Amino acid sequence: MRSLVLLLVLVCACGGEEAGFFDAGAAPTYFDDVAPIFAEHCNGCHSAGNIAPIALDDVKQAQSVASAIKRETQSRTMPPFIIDGRGDCQSFRDDASLSDEQIAIIAAWADAGAPAGEPKAIAAAPALPTLEAPDVLLDPGVAYAPRPNVHDDYRCFIVDPGLQADAFLTAYEVRPDVLAQVHHVVLYTVDSAEEQAAAEALDAAEGGPGYSCFGGAGTGGGRSIAVWAPGTGATRYPAGTGIRLHGGRPLVMQLHYNGGLEPDRTTIALETVDTVQAEGVMTGVFDVSLSLPPGMEGVTESAALPLPRLDVPVTLHGVYPHMHRYGRAMRAYWDKDGASTCLADVPRYDFDWQRFFFYEEGVTLPPPGGGHFRIECTYDTRGADRELHWGEGTDDEMCIAAFYATYPVGPY
Ligand code: HEC
Repeated sequence: MRSLVLLLVLVCACGGEEAGFFDAGAAPTYFDDVAPIFAEHCNGCHSAGNIAPIALDDVKQAQSVASAIKRETQSRTMPPFIIDGRGDCQSFRDDASLSDEQIAIIAAWADAGAPAGEPKAIAAAPALPTLEAPDVLLDPGVAYAPRPNVHDDYRCFIVDPGLQADAFLTAYEVRPDVLAQVHHVVLYTVDSAEEQAAAEALDAAEGGPGYSCFGGAGTGGGRSIAVWAPGTGATRYPAGTGIRLHGGRPLVMQLHYNGGLEPDRTTIALETVDTVQAEGVMTGVFDVSLSLPPGMEGVTESAALPLPRLDVPVTLHGVYPHMHRYGRAMRAYWDKDGASTCLADVPRYDFDWQRFFFYEEGVTLPPPGGGHFRIECTYDTRGADRELHWGEGTDDEMCIAAFYATYPVGPY
């Protein structure tokens, strides 16, 4: 009898006390039901020293924010996988979304008082894919300390891939240095002498490493060829395909630091090859004629771009939805002959969580092409004090669905 009492006390001391006295019955517990979901879907960001503020592999911390966890998962803001591949608009590689059942388990756990249950080991977060043999390392060469009193510091660094001749980018791996500070990274090409001169002038005009930039590289051009958010590992373009990098030109990497003052030297490893079976190009649909009145909860703009005649099939492999801070939702379609193919449905756009999303299966547009790419972007302009237009600044907006597309290299 004594040992039974001791055992009960031990179990209780292991973290169940916050739950209070309740009928455990069939209620889900942290260790049995919820921790495995967190391990797979959350702890890649929600662990000590990582980008997210709370460590969900720590039972006490998880319990202390149980109702926020319920709210954020029910609204699907967490995990921050901003594209919806669960319905009738494509499905995506590495879809991190929770299932309805997982969301219900988390809610039942929170409603039951967030019981800990019987302590047991928590699985590690899945390891992120890495590049085995990168041949280029993009390195700003010096550490940059984000500016004090600037919560969101966007900084561009000119980096040199050291390419003598054109090459094709087939994979990339962002290697964040101060993990807790780096909120996203975009890599831009510099495709002409004019763009290079513009980047160098911006760099020279500001003290310290790099220069300030927001919605682009500030060069008047630049293709975004790598987009990264925390919790994402190496990204590989579909086999046999790659994006052209121009020999002799630098690249610009844009870092978004969200708070924190520690000097950071984030790098990007690249895998490049000399030739590919199919050159990947960034194509897309955008609405440059934005004029968004301030003070509106939901204002939607749309645009359609005619798709040119195609002599060969073109395959879209993935989409990069891009708006700025006021962007809330986006949809993109290919319309032809009265039929509409959904290419992207982003119901909860968040500038902080933009990244590239690859389709589980490519979308092939057969010859002769034609029809239109169409985009609809919705904004909440209540925080703006003037009309917003297209531009790269923090108080400008954008509306872009960029597609990674390939076509067979042939007689064309
Ligand atoms: C890709 C990284 C990432 C993943 C994966 C992720 N989170 Fe988060 N989470 C964050 C960051 C960063 C914040 C801080 C707020 C922000 O920047 O959006 C946050 C904030 C939160 C918050 C606090 C919101 C508030 O009230 O301030 C909760 C709760 C949360 N996440 C729960 C979860 C749960 C549960 C999961 C898994 C089902 C999850 N998160 C997956 C990065 C992530």
